[in-house]
Amino acid sequence: PLSTPGTPPETTFTDKYAMAFDIDGVLIRGGRPIPEAVEAMQVLNGKNAYGVKVPYIFVTNGGGKTEQERCIQLSKQMEIEVSPGQFICGHTPMREMAEKYKTVLVVGGEGEKCRQVAEGYGFKDVITPGDIIKDNPDTTPFRKLTKEENDNSRVRNYAEVKIEAIFVFADSRDWAGDQQIILDLLMSKGGYLGSRSETFDEGPPVFFSHNDVIWSASHDLTRLGMGALRLSLEAMYKAVTGKQLNTTAFGKPQTGTFQFATRLLQQWRKDTHGIDAPPETVYFVGDTPESDIRGTNEFNEQSENQWYSILVRTGVYQEGTKPKFAPKVTVDNVLDAVNHAIEREQ
Ligand code: G3P
Ligand code: MG
Repeated sequence: PLSTPGTPPETTFTDKYAMAFDIDGVLIRGGRPIPEAVEAMQVLNGKNAYGVKVPYIFVTNGGGKTEQERCIQLSKQMEIEVSPGQFICGHTPMREMAEKYKTVLVVGGEGEKCRQVAEGYGFKDVITPGDIIKDNPDTTPFRKLTKEENDNSRVRNYAEVKIEAIFVFADSRDWAGDQQIILDLLMSKGGYLGSRSETFDEGPPVFFSHNDVIWSASHDLTRLGMGALRLSLEAMYKAVTGKQLNTTAFGKPQTGTFQFATRLLQQWRKDTHGIDAPPETVYFVGDTPESDIRGTNEFNEQSENQWYSILVRTGVYQEGTKPKFAPKVTVDNVLDAVNHAIEREQ
């Protein structure tokens, strides 16, 4: 282990291993910290029997705010400082699409938040469902914009605007209206609203920031997530057009997300401790077998270093069932997960 400059000599920073954390169901549930999470962060930061400090990053499928905003929120909740340099959310990798697509429909999240996120990523022309409803309120017969939505929405002649791609950045707040608009576009002639294709094969591509069918929120039972919207949209498209809809999802369990996480971790360790080599092992702590455990295990197969999956019982996965994707180890909560990793490395 390397000594950390400016910290007492008894605390050492390990360059051998690192940890990555899922957020919902591991650290947070329904906006509140999971009880053991705050202590788990302290243990990572040296409050353990060995005085070891472990580098870590956060990889959530959630989103709907800028990475900066989410880090400020997480810092308060976990009582530590979280930097955007150690944070990936579902839509973070979408920033790489801003060069390819200029005019895009961005769906999901509160108010104007996701438009701001997309513009921050460099998308040049960002349209929201609200813009389309304001321009033509008949688009969604049972959905009226609030005054605030109306004030924020941007009117122009959408029949003349070619929408090149659809991005679902965060959970839809209006499934019916959002799906109507997405379907209209998918069935359009080349992304022009108001037109109808005869062949249904010229609509824009659809990208989802993740594919979690369920997730762990404040309710005792799991809640429907963005993956459920995706399934619903695919089923409706099939029912209406008779064709198969192919959509793309980012986030976990996609390998690309874990590659992104690897690069982020490497940069983070370099910037904070001058280490320019990958850790031997990355412990990933998650609550959802289908995204966290599956993604970690599959990435482990192709990665040069070891990715070790730890499943907790505080979120989607519940005791008494067999997880669809088997973790290396299952523990009660994130504190046990951190202790398990540190003990295993001694
Ligand atoms: O909508 C967010 C949810 O599906 C999962 O978030 O932090 O568990 O990856 P997380
Ligand atoms: Mg989770």
